[in-house]
Amino acid sequence: MVDIVNVVKSFGDLEVLKDVTIHINDKEIYGIIGQSGAGKSTLLRCINGLEDYQSGEIIVNGIKVTRDDQKQLHQLQKTMGMIFQNFNLLNRLDVYDNVALPMKFWGMKTNTPEARKKIEGLIKMVGLEDKIHARPRELSGGQKQRVAIARALVLDPKILLCDEATSALDPAITRGILALLQQINREMGITIIVVTHQMEVVKQICRRVAFIKDGMVLAEGRPEELFVKPEKDVKKFLQQDSELLPQTGVNIQLFFTDKSSDPVITMMARELDINFSICWAKLEDFRHNVYGSLVINVNEKDKEIVEDYLDRQGVAWEVL
Ligand SMILES: Nc1ncnc2c1ncn2[C@@H]1O[C@H](COP(=O)(O)OP(=O)(O)OP(=O)(O)O)[C@@H](O)[C@H]1O
Ligand SMILES: [Mg+2]
Repeated sequence: MVDIVNVVKSFGDLEVLKDVTIHINDKEIYGIIGQSGAGKSTLLRCINGLEDYQSGEIIVNGIKVTRDDQKQLHQLQKTMGMIFQNFNLLNRLDVYDNVALPMKFWGMKTNTPEARKKIEGLIKMVGLEDKIHARPRELSGGQKQRVAIARALVLDPKILLCDEATSALDPAITRGILALLQQINREMGITIIVVTHQMEVVKQICRRVAFIKDGMVLAEGRPEELFVKPEKDVKKFLQQDSELLPQTGVNIQLFFTDKSSDPVITMMARELDINFSICWAKLEDFRHNVYGSLVINVNEKDKEIVEDYLDRQGVAWEVL
């Protein structure tokens, strides 16, 4: 649905995107995560043609995104809804008119029975039917984002681009918005690209994620692959390095990335007849599957038999 191939983008001398290649499938929820300044918003703005890029190409639904052909670009932009951290609602308009705005912009009538049905249907879908004539200042942050989502869907887009859509919301409200995005993806078949610096967001809804740093894709994959056994840069981003591990003995981190339910730890203690301590552990919920990792501290003399045992059990591990 979205093919980003070797895209390079600079602002003056500042190269913000350096050879970015990402392929996003139809009906996928795809995450783009990275530190502030990594180039995430710039990439999103290139996808919907708000920004130009110097080389490479971006193909959306078979059509190249280029600012050279304004007419084609506008048609393409119609197929991409966008939501932002700060909602971007017009304060003087009520919920109905805010949602209707893109139709007005495209010269469509917003008072015909079909238009009303469409707009009211979307407002109902985002759960705001009792606020249909409220102004943005009368709404909470979560409600404002729901209005913005309804507005982004009013032209029947194929793709929804979300730039830090939940970054200003508290965790409970964030969960509600994420559930709504999943519903939109599932029921309307809309491809969703989520730009965020919140790992929670990616874990909860994204099927795949790209980690970008300094304008480059450093890692890509399923969130559970990327975050449970993170490579160096991702680990640094997650600030997961533990400084509390014992200074003596050997610290071995075990990774549980599938649904294996074997009680490996207790089996190992019994079968090898050794003792060790558990120093650190973390279990995480990735779209309803639980994955995790665990650090054990073993005696130097047991290091090899433990490593050998873990290999035989098919458990991924590394010495810290
Ligand atoms: N219009 C612009 N002109 C010049 N530089 C820009 C412009 N927009 C962004 N930049 C620079 O490009 C880099 C990437 O910015 P971008 O907004 O894409 O980062 P981001 O990953 O979205 O960060 P954040 O998480 O803070 O939103 C930054 O160094 C920024 O200063
Ligand atoms: Mg940004």
